[in-house]
Amino acid sequence: MRIIRATNPTEAGRHTATIIASQVTLKPDSVLGLATGSSPIETYKYLVEWYKQGNLDFSQVYTVNLDEYIGLPADHEQSYARFMYNHLFDHINIRPDHVYIPNGLAPENAAEGARYDGIIKDLGGVDLQLLGIGTNGHIGFNEPGEAFITGTHCVDLSEATILANSRFFESADMVPKQAYSVGVQTIMQAKRVVMVATGKNKASAIRDAFCGPVTPKVPASILQLHPDFVLVADEEALSLM
Ligand code: GLP
Repeated sequence: MRIIRATNPTEAGRHTATIIASQVTLKPDSVLGLATGSSPIETYKYLVEWYKQGNLDFSQVYTVNLDEYIGLPADHEQSYARFMYNHLFDHINIRPDHVYIPNGLAPENAAEGARYDGIIKDLGGVDLQLLGIGTNGHIGFNEPGEAFITGTHCVDLSEATILANSRFFESADMVPKQAYSVGVQTIMQAKRVVMVATGKNKASAIRDAFCGPVTPKVPASILQLHPDFVLVADEEALSLM
């Protein structure tokens, strides 16, 4: 595990974007595993800026997103699909048929999980997985539990996650109670994993994930076992390490 220390969220975003830009430059048909939430927003801003300057080309890139709320159509303003188009896909030259996100309206949980895992397998797995971290240590929507779940699955969101994500909705009642999330196998099989974490509210999750035991009670802790894991974090997020 390597740690890249940033002085603030903007710098963390620039470091993270640099890693992704190197990946795309070295392997133009890379499969990028992408994340939503506030953590990667700065990263996406840099990628868009460098694309607009002519320094990046996404025409051969494939993307597979980590997760999606169940019950929200892709065009809902709080769907993760909408997030990705707003922050990245609408502003770069990625092909729409190279973009994969779980279908929040899929009625059969097991079938959607199998379909999505099949897509990732057919693409040859993920080259670079971008992650944020939840305040309870979740990655994607792999919530704390008794066991790590390997494949794409339906998750009952924890109270902590619903509360944390209610800032994007009118009230906590409006936050979907379930989501599809890729499992830890997809994340751990990615050739490289980069996590971006900023702010004081992530400090205890970062400490528990990387200074404690590997346990499904802190899902991000499994990344201690990944052979090429990079944490890009600001001083506040690292303050309890
Ligand atoms: C959501 C997403 C995660 C993300 C987490 C943290 O629950 N499913 O992928 O890492 O929130 O979000 P934020 O970056 O806004 O703190």
